[in-house]
Amino acid sequence: MITLNKHSYRTAARITAVGSYLPQRILTNQDLEQIVETSDEWIVQRTGISERRIAAEDEYCSDLCFAAVRNLVAKYDVQLGDVDYIIVATTTPDTFFPQMAARVQAEFGIDNCGAIDVQAACAGFAAALQLAGGLIAAGSHRKILVIGAETLSKITDYTDRTTCILFGDGAGAVLVEAGLPGDEPSFLDAISLTDGGEGHHLYRSSLSPSIGASPIKQNGYIVQNGRAVFRWAISRVPEGIQQFLDQSGFTVSDLDWFIPHNPNMRIIDAVSERTGIPLEKTITTLKLTGNTSAASIPIALDAAVSDGRIRKGNLLLLYGFGGGLSQAGLILRWAI
Ligand code: UT7
Repeated sequence: MITLNKHSYRTAARITAVGSYLPQRILTNQDLEQIVETSDEWIVQRTGISERRIAAEDEYCSDLCFAAVRNLVAKYDVQLGDVDYIIVATTTPDTFFPQMAARVQAEFGIDNCGAIDVQAACAGFAAALQLAGGLIAAGSHRKILVIGAETLSKITDYTDRTTCILFGDGAGAVLVEAGLPGDEPSFLDAISLTDGGEGHHLYRSSLSPSIGASPIKQNGYIVQNGRAVFRWAISRVPEGIQQFLDQSGFTVSDLDWFIPHNPNMRIIDAVSERTGIPLEKTITTLKLTGNTSAASIPIALDAAVSDGRIRKGNLLLLYGFGGGLSQAGLILRWAI
């Protein structure tokens, strides 16, 4: 049974499997002390990050996607042959085209399958998951692989101490399947918010020398005005979450787990304080992964499902935010 209205879509689409992958190489704060003028103490105090994973020189976004999907298949009794859509959220594809989803389709030999990449920076995975839920709610698709994967180290300027301390690489994948008749809805609500006028505070250049009226650095690296992004995140994100809870009819106490994008522990602390969602209910992997943009939510989700924190029937708030500047959230009833 599917009910759609202006503010909510309830569908029996459900996540039936989760996997993730982190590259082997670890870049610690102590390693960064050798590269730029910084200290472990400063990084931990200002970001909560101790280390991050870095893809090998010849390891690209597609490789991370494949590894996350293989991890998912190894842990769950699922088949990929009848997947009918693949959505990859990434800002660091191997190539602009072909899209990474098409690489995944080829790697796993999935016939009769659509494949798109979604680019919404750190909100990308939540946005991709919303699309998957919507396609299943519409009845056009039944089994969708959704992946968030990033090789941010390849677009990080390791001479810029204000950005190189933050970012890491990784990938996470989920399988979203249509429920059976009579199943309880699992995708309970979604929200998307965008402040495009603020986009020039966080970007990576491509073809144009400007974003709107703002000239930008065309160096191919992540460039950000950290303070502006920080201010935006600690004001607009709590507002967005409150708006989402209000529209959905849920309260903070209904939530079992909050899985935010993991940019910086001070941002997560401020969001917790301003929304009233306790840190004990907040799942982060930031300390050991850094900010992995579109991959951060599925990596955290996989960690908490694997260690048994997330259980069947739990109410989850997934909330991505960042470049755009954009926000995307979902409320899910965990169904497996
Ligand atoms: O997915 C979203 C992605 N973006 C973000 O999450 C970024 C949001 N912003 C932030 O996380 C923070 O703004 C940063 C961690 C990037 C910076 O922290 P901050 O507390 O906002 O520092 P600041 O930019 O206000 O700089 C304070 C001082 C400056 O020195 P002066 O001018 O006061 O002498 C910086 O030069 O800290 C200095 N600084 C550093 N010192 C040691 C900046 N980066 C470093 C560093 N190590 N790595």
